[in-house]
Amino acid sequence: MSYSLQQGAFIIAGLLFILALAGLSKHETSQRGNVLGSIGMAAALVITILGTVLGRGGTEGVTVEAVSAPPAWMIAAILVPLAVGGVLGVVKARRVEMTGMPELIALFHSFVGLAAVLVGWVAYLEGDTTKLAAGELFVGVFIGAVTFTGSIIAYLKLSAKMNSKPLMLPHHNLINLAAVAAFLILTVVFVLVQGDNRPLGYVLLAVMTLISLALGLHLVASIGGGDMPVVVSMLNSYSGWAAAAAGFTLNNDLLIITGALVGSSGAYLRYIMCKAMNRNFISVIAGGFGSDGAVVGEAKDYGSHREISAPEAAELLKAASSVIITPGYGMAVAQAQGAVADLTAKLRALGVEVRFGIHPVAGRLPGHMNVLLAEAKVPYDIVLEMDEINDDFESTDVVLVIGANDTVNPAAQEDPTSPIAGMPVLEVWKAQQVIVFKRSMATGYAGVQNPLFFKPNAAMLFGDAKQRVEDIIKAL
Ligand code: TAP
Repeated sequence: MSYSLQQGAFIIAGLLFILALAGLSKHETSQRGNVLGSIGMAAALVITILGTVLGRGGTEGVTVEAVSAPPAWMIAAILVPLAVGGVLGVVKARRVEMTGMPELIALFHSFVGLAAVLVGWVAYLEGDTTKLAAGELFVGVFIGAVTFTGSIIAYLKLSAKMNSKPLMLPHHNLINLAAVAAFLILTVVFVLVQGDNRPLGYVLLAVMTLISLALGLHLVASIGGGDMPVVVSMLNSYSGWAAAAAGFTLNNDLLIITGALVGSSGAYLRYIMCKAMNRNFISVIAGGFGSDGAVVGEAKDYGSHREISAPEAAELLKAASSVIITPGYGMAVAQAQGAVADLTAKLRALGVEVRFGIHPVAGRLPGHMNVLLAEAKVPYDIVLEMDEINDDFESTDVVLVIGANDTVNPAAQEDPTSPIAGMPVLEVWKAQQVIVFKRSMATGYAGVQNPLFFKPNAAMLFGDAKQRVEDIIKAL
Protein backbone atom coordinates (compact mmCIF):
# COMPACT_ATOMS: atom_id res chain seq x y z
CA MET A 1 0.00 0.00 0.00
CA SER A 2 1.59 3.24 -1.12
CA TYR A 3 1.21 6.70 0.36
CA SER A 4 -0.82 7.83 -2.65
CA LEU A 5 -3.12 4.80 -2.34
CA GLN A 6 -3.75 5.76 1.29
CA GLN A 7 -4.44 9.38 0.32
CA GLY A 8 -6.69 8.23 -2.54
CA ALA A 9 -8.69 6.08 -0.11
CA PHE A 10 -8.99 9.07 2.24
CA ILE A 11 -10.35 11.24 -0.59
CA ILE A 12 -12.92 8.56 -1.50
CA ALA A 13 -13.95 8.33 2.18
CA GLY A 14 -14.27 12.14 2.28
CA LEU A 15 -16.46 12.08 -0.83
CA LEU A 16 -18.63 9.36 0.72
CA PHE A 17 -19.10 11.59 3.80
CA ILE A 18 -20.22 14.48 1.58
CA LEU A 19 -22.66 12.20 -0.26
CA ALA A 20 -23.88 10.93 3.13
CA LEU A 21 -24.65 14.48 4.27
CA ALA A 22 -26.45 15.18 1.00
CA GLY A 23 -28.49 11.97 1.45
CA LEU A 24 -29.36 12.80 5.05
CA SER A 25 -30.92 16.10 4.01
CA LYS A 26 -34.10 14.38 2.73
CA HIS A 27 -36.29 11.64 4.23
CA GLU A 28 -36.39 9.68 1.01
CA THR A 29 -32.61 9.46 0.71
CA SER A 30 -31.64 9.38 4.39
CA GLN A 31 -31.13 5.60 4.57
CA ARG A 32 -28.87 5.71 1.53
CA GLY A 33 -27.00 8.61 3.16
CA ASN A 34 -26.47 6.54 6.29
CA VAL A 35 -25.17 3.57 4.29
CA LEU A 36 -22.74 5.77 2.31
CA GLY A 37 -21.48 7.40 5.52
CA SER A 38 -20.97 3.98 7.14
CA ILE A 39 -19.04 2.69 4.11
CA GLY A 40 -16.87 5.83 4.16
CA MET A 41 -16.18 5.45 7.88
CA ALA A 42 -15.40 1.72 7.54
CA ALA A 43 -12.99 2.45 4.66
CA ALA A 44 -11.34 5.27 6.62
CA LEU A 45 -10.89 3.04 9.67
CA VAL A 46 -9.47 0.09 7.71
CA ILE A 47 -7.00 2.27 5.81
CA THR A 48 -5.90 4.10 8.96
CA ILE A 49 -5.48 0.87 10.93
CA LEU A 50 -3.61 -0.85 8.10
CA GLY A 51 -1.37 2.17 7.65
CA THR A 52 -0.61 2.21 11.38
CA VAL A 53 -0.14 -1.51 11.89
CA LEU A 54 1.95 -2.06 8.75
CA GLY A 55 4.18 0.88 9.46
CA ARG A 56 3.45 4.50 10.10
CA GLY A 57 4.88 7.57 8.57
CA GLY A 58 4.46 6.95 4.86
CA THR A 59 5.06 10.14 2.94
CA GLU A 60 4.88 10.98 -0.70
CA GLY A 61 6.85 8.47 -2.76
CA VAL A 62 7.52 6.16 0.20
CA THR A 63 5.54 2.94 0.59
CA VAL A 64 4.09 2.49 4.01
CA GLU A 65 5.72 -0.98 4.24
CA ALA A 66 9.10 0.68 3.76
CA VAL A 67 8.70 2.41 7.11
CA SER A 68 9.34 0.12 10.07
CA ALA A 69 6.25 -1.37 11.68
CA PRO A 70 5.65 -0.46 15.32
CA PRO A 71 6.43 -3.06 18.03
CA ALA A 72 3.75 -5.63 18.92
CA TRP A 73 2.86 -3.94 22.21
CA MET A 74 2.09 -0.72 20.36
CA ILE A 75 -0.11 -2.54 17.85
CA ALA A 76 -1.94 -4.16 20.78
CA ALA A 77 -2.24 -0.74 22.44
CA ILE A 78 -4.01 0.46 19.31
CA LEU A 79 -6.16 -2.56 18.49
CA VAL A 80 -7.34 -3.55 21.97
CA PRO A 81 -8.93 -0.17 22.90
CA LEU A 82 -10.30 -0.01 19.36
CA ALA A 83 -12.05 -3.37 19.79
CA VAL A 84 -13.27 -2.57 23.32
CA GLY A 85 -14.50 0.89 22.22
CA GLY A 86 -16.17 -0.58 19.14
CA VAL A 87 -18.04 -3.21 21.16
CA LEU A 88 -19.07 -0.66 23.82
CA GLY A 89 -20.26 1.73 21.08
CA VAL A 90 -22.38 -0.94 19.38
CA VAL A 91 -23.91 -2.09 22.70
CA LYS A 92 -24.68 1.47 23.81
CA ALA A 93 -26.12 2.52 20.44
CA ARG A 94 -28.35 -0.57 20.27
CA ARG A 95 -29.66 -0.07 23.79
CA VAL A 96 -30.32 3.65 23.70
CA GLU A 97 -33.90 4.84 23.37
CA MET A 98 -34.56 7.52 20.75
CA THR A 99 -35.43 9.87 23.63
CA GLY A 100 -31.96 9.27 25.10
CA MET A 101 -30.09 10.14 21.87
CA PRO A 102 -29.27 13.79 22.71
CA GLU A 103 -27.37 12.87 25.86
CA LEU A 104 -25.57 10.01 24.07
CA ILE A 105 -24.56 12.43 21.30
CA ALA A 106 -23.34 14.91 23.94
CA LEU A 107 -21.28 12.13 25.54
CA PHE A 108 -19.74 11.20 22.17
CA HIS A 109 -18.88 14.86 21.55
CA SER A 110 -17.02 14.90 24.86
CA PHE A 111 -14.81 12.00 23.64
CA VAL A 112 -13.94 13.93 20.47
CA GLY A 113 -13.01 16.95 22.60
CA LEU A 114 -10.86 14.85 24.93
CA ALA A 115 -9.14 13.19 21.95
CA ALA A 116 -8.27 16.62 20.50
CA VAL A 117 -6.76 17.71 23.86
CA LEU A 118 -4.66 14.53 24.07
CA VAL A 119 -3.51 14.79 20.43
CA GLY A 120 -2.36 18.38 21.03
CA TRP A 121 -0.49 17.48 24.20
CA VAL A 122 1.17 14.43 22.65
CA ALA A 123 2.24 16.50 19.63
CA TYR A 124 3.98 18.98 21.94
CA LEU A 125 5.50 16.23 24.12
CA GLU A 126 6.89 14.57 20.98
CA GLY A 127 9.36 17.38 20.45
CA ASP A 128 10.14 20.13 17.96
CA THR A 129 7.22 22.02 16.53
CA THR A 130 7.17 24.83 14.02
CA LYS A 131 5.46 28.10 14.95
CA LEU A 132 2.53 27.21 12.69
CA ALA A 133 2.21 23.71 14.17
CA ALA A 134 2.45 25.18 17.67
CA GLY A 135 -0.40 27.58 16.91
CA GLU A 136 -2.49 24.72 15.45
CA LEU A 137 -2.01 22.46 18.44
CA PHE A 138 -2.72 25.29 20.91
CA VAL A 139 -6.01 26.10 19.13
CA GLY A 140 -6.83 22.37 18.90
CA VAL A 141 -6.34 21.87 22.65
CA PHE A 142 -8.48 24.96 23.35
CA ILE A 143 -11.44 23.83 21.18
CA GLY A 144 -11.08 20.25 22.41
CA ALA A 145 -11.06 21.22 26.10
CA VAL A 146 -14.10 23.53 25.72
CA THR A 147 -15.94 20.75 23.84
CA PHE A 148 -14.93 18.16 26.44
CA THR A 149 -16.25 19.84 29.59
CA GLY A 150 -19.11 21.60 27.76
CA SER A 151 -20.35 18.26 26.42
CA ILE A 152 -20.10 16.58 29.81
CA ILE A 153 -22.27 19.32 31.35
CA ALA A 154 -24.72 19.03 28.40
CA TYR A 155 -24.82 15.24 28.97
CA LEU A 156 -25.52 15.70 32.69
CA LYS A 157 -28.24 18.30 32.03
CA LEU A 158 -29.94 16.36 29.23
CA SER A 159 -29.96 13.12 31.21
CA ALA A 160 -31.39 14.98 34.22
CA LYS A 161 -28.34 13.97 36.29
CA MET A 162 -27.82 17.68 36.89
CA ASN A 163 -30.32 20.49 37.35
CA SER A 164 -31.04 22.20 34.02
CA LYS A 165 -31.19 25.51 35.90
CA PRO A 166 -28.57 27.91 34.48
CA LEU A 167 -25.61 28.78 36.63
CA MET A 168 -25.78 32.57 36.85
CA LEU A 169 -22.46 33.71 38.29
CA PRO A 170 -22.11 37.48 38.65
CA HIS A 171 -20.63 38.96 35.44
CA HIS A 172 -20.83 35.59 33.70
CA ASN A 173 -20.44 37.16 30.25
CA LEU A 174 -17.35 38.99 31.42
CA ILE A 175 -15.93 35.71 32.75
CA ASN A 176 -16.36 34.11 29.29
CA LEU A 177 -14.83 37.11 27.54
CA ALA A 178 -11.88 37.15 29.95
CA ALA A 179 -11.26 33.44 29.28
CA VAL A 180 -11.28 33.99 25.49
CA ALA A 181 -8.98 37.02 25.85
CA ALA A 182 -6.58 34.99 28.05
CA PHE A 183 -6.58 32.23 25.40
CA LEU A 184 -5.70 34.70 22.63
CA ILE A 185 -2.85 36.26 24.62
CA LEU A 186 -1.51 32.85 25.70
CA THR A 187 -1.61 31.66 22.06
CA VAL A 188 0.57 34.54 20.89
CA VAL A 189 3.06 34.06 23.77
CA PHE A 190 3.11 30.27 23.25
CA VAL A 191 3.82 30.52 19.53
CA LEU A 192 6.65 32.97 20.20
CA VAL A 193 8.40 31.17 23.09
CA GLN A 194 7.61 27.43 22.86
CA GLY A 195 10.56 26.50 20.65
CA ASP A 196 13.25 28.26 22.72
CA ASN A 197 11.80 27.77 26.17
CA ARG A 198 9.98 24.45 26.34
CA PRO A 199 9.37 24.46 30.13
CA LEU A 200 7.55 27.78 29.73
CA GLY A 201 5.71 26.23 26.76
CA TYR A 202 4.43 23.44 29.01
CA VAL A 203 3.28 25.94 31.63
CA LEU A 204 1.44 28.03 29.02
CA LEU A 205 -0.19 24.93 27.51
CA ALA A 206 -1.24 23.67 30.94
CA VAL A 207 -2.64 27.06 32.01
CA MET A 208 -4.56 27.40 28.74
CA THR A 209 -5.91 23.81 29.04
CA LEU A 210 -7.21 24.56 32.54
CA ILE A 211 -8.77 27.87 31.41
CA SER A 212 -10.52 26.22 28.45
CA LEU A 213 -11.76 23.28 30.54
CA ALA A 214 -13.27 25.83 32.95
CA LEU A 215 -14.67 27.90 30.04
CA GLY A 216 -16.48 24.86 28.53
CA LEU A 217 -17.92 24.02 31.93
CA HIS A 218 -19.05 27.57 32.64
CA LEU A 219 -20.38 28.22 29.12
CA VAL A 220 -22.80 25.30 29.09
CA ALA A 221 -23.62 25.45 32.81
CA SER A 222 -24.90 29.02 32.25
CA ILE A 223 -27.31 27.98 29.49
CA GLY A 224 -30.88 27.16 30.49
CA GLY A 225 -32.78 23.98 29.62
CA GLY A 226 -34.87 25.66 26.91
CA ASP A 227 -31.79 26.49 24.85
CA MET A 228 -30.44 22.94 24.88
CA PRO A 229 -31.28 22.29 21.17
CA VAL A 230 -28.94 25.13 20.24
CA VAL A 231 -26.30 23.90 22.69
CA VAL A 232 -26.34 20.35 21.29
CA SER A 233 -25.82 21.65 17.74
CA MET A 234 -23.16 24.10 18.98
CA LEU A 235 -21.19 21.28 20.64
CA ASN A 236 -21.67 19.17 17.52
CA SER A 237 -20.00 21.93 15.55
CA TYR A 238 -17.20 22.37 18.13
CA SER A 239 -16.46 18.64 18.11
CA GLY A 240 -15.99 18.88 14.33
CA TRP A 241 -13.58 21.80 14.62
CA ALA A 242 -11.73 19.98 17.41
CA ALA A 243 -11.32 16.96 15.11
CA ALA A 244 -10.16 19.20 12.24
CA ALA A 245 -7.60 20.86 14.53
CA ALA A 246 -6.34 17.40 15.56
CA GLY A 247 -6.13 16.58 11.83
CA PHE A 248 -3.81 19.55 11.28
CA THR A 249 -1.64 18.49 14.21
CA LEU A 250 -1.46 14.88 12.99
CA ASN A 251 -1.11 15.91 9.35
CA ASN A 252 -4.11 13.74 8.56
CA ASP A 253 -6.13 15.04 5.59
CA LEU A 254 -9.12 12.81 6.27
CA LEU A 255 -9.48 14.09 9.81
CA ILE A 256 -9.31 17.66 8.50
CA ILE A 257 -11.99 17.00 5.86
CA THR A 258 -14.27 15.08 8.24
CA GLY A 259 -13.81 17.60 11.04
CA ALA A 260 -14.59 20.49 8.70
CA LEU A 261 -17.73 18.70 7.44
CA VAL A 262 -18.97 18.06 10.99
CA GLY A 263 -17.96 21.56 12.12
CA SER A 264 -19.70 23.38 9.28
CA SER A 265 -22.81 21.18 9.19
CA GLY A 266 -23.09 21.56 12.98
CA ALA A 267 -22.77 25.34 12.59
CA TYR A 268 -25.54 25.30 9.98
CA LEU A 269 -27.72 23.16 12.23
CA ARG A 270 -27.15 25.69 15.00
CA TYR A 271 -28.31 28.42 12.61
CA ILE A 272 -31.49 26.41 11.82
CA MET A 273 -32.11 25.83 15.53
CA CYS A 274 -31.62 29.52 16.36
CA LYS A 275 -34.00 30.46 13.54
CA ALA A 276 -36.56 27.86 14.66
CA MET A 277 -36.50 29.28 18.15
CA ASN A 278 -36.11 32.90 17.04
CA ARG A 279 -32.95 33.12 19.09
CA ASN A 280 -29.78 35.00 18.53
CA PHE A 281 -26.74 32.76 19.01
CA ILE A 282 -24.92 35.31 21.14
CA SER A 283 -27.92 35.68 23.42
CA VAL A 284 -28.05 31.89 23.84
CA ILE A 285 -24.42 31.89 24.93
CA ALA A 286 -25.21 34.82 27.20
CA GLY A 287 -27.84 32.58 28.86
CA GLY A 288 -31.37 33.20 29.96
CA PHE A 289 -34.08 31.55 27.84
CA GLY A 290 -36.22 28.85 29.45
CA SER A 291 -33.71 29.42 32.05
CA ASP A 292 -34.79 28.52 35.49
CA GLY A 293 -36.77 25.39 34.64
CA ALA A 294 -39.47 26.73 36.97
CA VAL A 295 -43.12 26.61 36.02
CA VAL A 296 -43.42 30.07 34.57
CA GLY A 297 -46.94 31.36 34.13
CA GLU A 298 -48.35 28.83 36.61
CA ALA A 299 -49.54 31.72 38.76
CA LYS A 300 -51.67 33.08 35.91
CA ASP A 301 -55.30 31.99 35.96
CA TYR A 302 -56.14 30.71 32.49
CA GLY A 303 -59.57 29.40 33.56
CA SER A 304 -60.54 25.74 33.47
CA HIS A 305 -59.83 23.05 30.94
CA ARG A 306 -62.24 20.63 29.25
CA GLU A 307 -61.75 16.87 28.98
CA ILE A 308 -62.76 14.56 26.17
CA SER A 309 -62.95 10.76 25.96
CA ALA A 310 -61.48 8.58 23.20
CA PRO A 311 -64.93 7.64 21.74
CA GLU A 312 -65.90 11.35 21.67
CA ALA A 313 -62.62 12.16 19.91
CA ALA A 314 -63.33 9.37 17.40
CA GLU A 315 -66.74 10.95 16.64
CA LEU A 316 -65.09 14.35 16.01
CA LEU A 317 -62.54 12.74 13.71
CA LYS A 318 -65.19 10.82 11.76
CA ALA A 319 -67.08 14.05 11.12
CA ALA A 320 -63.93 15.96 10.07
CA SER A 321 -62.76 16.41 6.52
CA SER A 322 -59.28 17.73 7.41
CA VAL A 323 -57.03 16.71 10.29
CA ILE A 324 -53.53 17.84 11.23
CA ILE A 325 -51.43 15.86 13.71
CA THR A 326 -48.68 17.73 15.57
CA PRO A 327 -46.48 15.24 17.41
CA GLY A 328 -44.02 16.10 20.16
CA TYR A 329 -41.72 14.56 22.71
CA GLY A 330 -44.62 12.72 24.41
CA MET A 331 -45.24 10.68 21.23
CA ALA A 332 -41.64 9.49 21.48
CA VAL A 333 -41.99 8.68 25.20
CA ALA A 334 -45.20 6.73 24.59
CA GLN A 335 -43.71 5.07 21.47
CA ALA A 336 -47.04 5.94 19.88
CA GLN A 337 -45.74 6.43 16.32
CA GLY A 338 -46.99 3.00 15.14
CA ALA A 339 -50.48 3.62 16.55
CA VAL A 340 -50.44 7.14 15.07
CA ALA A 341 -49.55 5.68 11.65
CA ASP A 342 -52.44 3.16 12.00
CA LEU A 343 -54.85 5.97 12.96
CA THR A 344 -53.66 7.98 9.95
CA ALA A 345 -54.26 5.05 7.59
CA LYS A 346 -57.72 4.44 9.09
CA LEU A 347 -58.78 8.08 8.77
CA ARG A 348 -57.47 8.33 5.22
CA ALA A 349 -59.43 5.18 4.35
CA LEU A 350 -62.52 7.00 5.67
CA GLY A 351 -61.77 9.89 3.28
CA VAL A 352 -60.35 12.30 5.85
CA GLU A 353 -57.38 14.38 4.71
CA VAL A 354 -54.60 13.81 7.30
CA ARG A 355 -51.34 15.73 7.43
CA PHE A 356 -48.56 16.17 9.98
CA GLY A 357 -47.08 19.48 11.16
CA ILE A 358 -43.53 19.15 12.46
CA HIS A 359 -41.92 21.84 14.58
CA PRO A 360 -38.13 22.03 14.06
CA VAL A 361 -37.41 21.50 17.77
CA ALA A 362 -40.21 19.03 18.53
CA GLY A 363 -38.85 16.17 20.60
CA ARG A 364 -35.34 16.18 21.96
CA LEU A 365 -33.10 16.19 18.90
CA PRO A 366 -33.24 17.62 15.39
CA GLY A 367 -35.46 15.53 13.14
CA HIS A 368 -36.68 13.39 16.08
CA MET A 369 -40.32 13.32 14.93
CA ASN A 370 -39.43 12.76 11.26
CA VAL A 371 -37.36 9.71 12.19
CA LEU A 372 -40.16 8.20 14.29
CA LEU A 373 -42.80 8.81 11.61
CA ALA A 374 -40.55 7.41 8.89
CA GLU A 375 -39.93 4.34 11.07
CA ALA A 376 -43.73 3.89 11.38
CA LYS A 377 -44.01 4.20 7.57
CA VAL A 378 -46.08 7.38 7.53
CA PRO A 379 -45.93 8.61 3.89
CA TYR A 380 -43.34 11.40 3.53
CA ASP A 381 -45.57 13.62 1.43
CA ILE A 382 -48.07 14.22 4.25
CA VAL A 383 -45.35 15.18 6.75
CA LEU A 384 -44.88 18.96 6.49
CA GLU A 385 -42.57 21.42 8.20
CA MET A 386 -43.99 24.17 10.43
CA ASP A 387 -43.55 26.89 7.79
CA GLU A 388 -45.34 24.78 5.19
CA ILE A 389 -48.41 24.09 7.32
CA ASN A 390 -48.83 27.01 9.71
CA ASP A 391 -51.23 28.93 7.44
CA ASP A 392 -53.51 25.88 7.09
CA PHE A 393 -54.63 25.49 10.71
CA GLU A 394 -57.37 28.10 10.27
CA SER A 395 -59.09 25.93 7.65
CA THR A 396 -58.59 22.65 9.54
CA ASP A 397 -61.39 20.80 11.34
CA VAL A 398 -59.45 18.88 13.97
CA VAL A 399 -55.87 19.08 15.24
CA LEU A 400 -54.45 16.21 17.28
CA VAL A 401 -51.62 17.47 19.51
CA ILE A 402 -49.91 14.21 20.44
CA GLY A 403 -47.45 14.68 23.30
CA ALA A 404 -46.42 18.19 22.21
CA ASN A 405 -46.47 21.19 24.50
CA ASP A 406 -43.89 24.00 24.10
CA THR A 407 -44.03 23.74 20.31
CA VAL A 408 -47.79 24.53 20.27
CA ASN A 409 -47.80 27.12 23.05
CA PRO A 410 -49.65 30.34 22.03
CA ALA A 411 -47.92 32.22 24.88
CA ALA A 412 -44.94 32.51 22.50
CA GLN A 413 -47.07 34.93 20.46
CA GLU A 414 -49.56 36.24 23.00
CA ASP A 415 -47.44 36.92 26.07
CA PRO A 416 -44.38 39.13 25.61
CA THR A 417 -43.29 38.34 29.18
CA SER A 418 -43.22 34.58 28.52
CA PRO A 419 -39.73 33.02 28.50
CA ILE A 420 -40.59 31.54 25.10
CA ALA A 421 -41.90 34.86 23.71
CA GLY A 422 -40.96 35.20 20.04
CA MET A 423 -40.32 31.48 19.46
CA PRO A 424 -42.20 30.41 16.32
CA VAL A 425 -44.88 27.83 17.20
CA LEU A 426 -47.43 25.67 15.39
CA GLU A 427 -50.64 27.76 15.48
CA VAL A 428 -52.88 24.81 16.35
CA TRP A 429 -55.39 26.92 18.34
CA LYS A 430 -56.63 28.46 15.06
CA ALA A 431 -58.28 25.15 14.06
CA GLN A 432 -61.98 24.39 14.74
CA GLN A 433 -61.15 21.78 17.39
CA VAL A 434 -57.91 20.84 19.13
CA ILE A 435 -57.48 17.58 21.03
CA VAL A 436 -54.41 17.48 23.30
CA PHE A 437 -53.02 14.04 24.21
CA LYS A 438 -51.02 14.09 27.45
CA ARG A 439 -51.07 12.47 30.85
CA SER A 440 -51.57 15.51 33.09
CA MET A 441 -51.61 19.31 33.10
CA ALA A 442 -47.83 19.33 33.62
CA THR A 443 -45.64 21.73 31.64
CA GLY A 444 -43.30 20.80 28.77
CA TYR A 445 -39.52 20.98 28.57
CA ALA A 446 -39.25 24.76 28.99
CA GLY A 447 -41.32 24.63 32.19
CA VAL A 448 -43.86 27.09 30.79
CA GLN A 449 -47.63 26.78 31.32
CA ASN A 450 -49.60 26.39 28.09
CA PRO A 451 -52.75 28.58 27.66
CA LEU A 452 -53.78 26.37 24.71
CA PHE A 453 -55.16 23.80 27.17
CA PHE A 454 -57.66 26.37 28.47
CA LYS A 455 -58.95 27.65 25.11
CA PRO A 456 -62.68 27.00 24.43
CA ASN A 457 -61.91 24.98 21.27
CA ALA A 458 -59.36 22.75 23.03
CA ALA A 459 -60.05 19.50 24.90
CA MET A 460 -57.67 17.32 26.89
CA LEU A 461 -57.49 13.58 26.23
CA PHE A 462 -55.56 12.37 29.28
CA GLY A 463 -53.50 9.19 29.43
CA ASP A 464 -50.61 7.54 27.67
CA ALA A 465 -50.63 8.73 24.05
CA LYS A 466 -50.24 5.23 22.57
CA GLN A 467 -53.15 3.82 24.58
CA ARG A 468 -55.41 6.76 23.81
CA VAL A 469 -54.67 6.59 20.07
CA GLU A 470 -55.39 2.85 20.12
CA ASP A 471 -58.66 3.55 21.98
CA ILE A 472 -59.65 5.97 19.20
CA ILE A 473 -58.79 3.39 16.51
CA LYS A 474 -61.05 0.88 18.32
CA ALA A 475 -63.87 3.40 18.56
CA LEU A 476 -63.55 4.22 14.86
P1 TAP B 1 -42.50 19.20 25.36
O1 TAP B 1 -42.75 20.65 25.41
O2 TAP B 1 -41.33 18.66 26.13
O3 TAP B 1 -43.83 18.47 25.88
C1 TAP B 1 -43.97 17.09 25.81
C2 TAP B 1 -45.29 16.73 26.45
O4 TAP B 1 -45.48 15.34 26.26
C3 TAP B 1 -45.32 16.98 27.94
O5 TAP B 1 -46.13 18.10 28.23
C4 TAP B 1 -45.86 15.69 28.54
O6 TAP B 1 -46.99 15.98 29.34
C5 TAP B 1 -46.28 14.87 27.33
N1 TAP B 1 -45.99 13.44 27.50
C6 TAP B 1 -44.88 12.87 28.00
N2 TAP B 1 -45.01 11.54 28.00
C7 TAP B 1 -46.23 11.26 27.47
C8 TAP B 1 -46.94 10.06 27.22
N3 TAP B 1 -46.42 8.84 27.49
N4 TAP B 1 -48.18 10.15 26.67
C9 TAP B 1 -48.71 11.36 26.40
N5 TAP B 1 -48.09 12.53 26.62
C10 TAP B 1 -46.85 12.48 27.16
O7 TAP B 1 -42.37 18.66 23.87
P2 TAP B 1 -42.36 19.39 22.45
O8 TAP B 1 -43.62 20.14 22.23
O9 TAP B 1 -41.97 18.34 21.50
O10 TAP B 1 -41.24 20.49 22.59
C11 TAP B 1 -39.89 20.13 22.60
C12 TAP B 1 -39.18 20.86 23.73
O11 TAP B 1 -37.92 20.24 23.95
C13 TAP B 1 -38.92 22.32 23.38
O12 TAP B 1 -38.94 23.11 24.53
C14 TAP B 1 -37.49 22.23 22.84
O13 TAP B 1 -36.81 23.45 22.92
C15 TAP B 1 -36.89 21.21 23.77
N6 TAP B 1 -35.71 20.53 23.24
C16 TAP B 1 -35.66 20.21 21.91
C17 TAP B 1 -34.51 19.63 21.41
C18 TAP B 1 -34.48 19.39 19.92
S1 TAP B 1 -33.12 19.58 19.15
N7 TAP B 1 -35.55 19.06 19.27
C19 TAP B 1 -33.42 19.29 22.25
C20 TAP B 1 -33.54 19.56 23.62
C21 TAP B 1 -34.69 20.20 24.10
P3 TAP B 1 -47.41 14.99 30.55
O14 TAP B 1 -46.21 14.84 31.39
O15 TAP B 1 -48.54 15.69 31.19
O16 TAP B 1 -47.83 13.70 29.90
